[in-house]
Amino acid sequence: MRRSGMMYVQQVAVAVGLLLFAGTGSALAQDLTEETYGPLMGEVRLLVGDVSQYIDNRYWPELGEALDKLFPEFRRMEAFWTARGNDGAVGMVGDGIAALRELGQAGIAMEVGPAQAGLTNLRAVCGSCHEAHREADGDGFKIKAGS
Ligand code: HEC
Repeated sequence: MRRSGMMYVQQVAVAVGLLLFAGTGSALAQDLTEETYGPLMGEVRLLVGDVSQYIDNRYWPELGEALDKLFPEFRRMEAFWTARGNDGAVGMVGDGIAALRELGQAGIAMEVGPAQAGLTNLRAVCGSCHEAHREADGDGFKIKAGS
């Protein structure tokens, strides 16, 4: 099959995200506080909603762009939990990064099924960490005492 120009552009858009952020060991300086962690999570939630829509609509370049934003946000979360010495939470963030990579690979391949599987894995990570390390705080949430 002949590869169209558009398909090439789409693949490049997704691949850029993988090149920049999928590598290991690119530790970011820890910049989050307990006050800024929640707002970051709100951004993550919006982006994951976008990811879901982009998969449904097969908007592969847009999926790549959303992943380009999610990778560094997960790196910031990783740095935050690393600084707190919470190995369990760091491991869950790592599972989330693995799910983002799955999504990136599915985006490059432009395959809806594997992309949905990656999204399911990503959401499972959100749920596990909230169960373990989040608690209600009035109308909203906060980091669980001791986490
Ligand atoms: C490593 C642990 C961890 C992971 C992974 C995680 N969260 Fe969170 N999340 C938390 C904690 C802790 C809070 C409570 C902090 C707060 O709200 O101030 C929170 C709060 C939130 C909130 C509420 C923000 C607010 O306004 O208080 C949203 C929305 C959210 N997370 C979305 C997500 C989504 C979507 C994912 C997965 C893509 C995810 N989180 C993954 C730990 C995690």
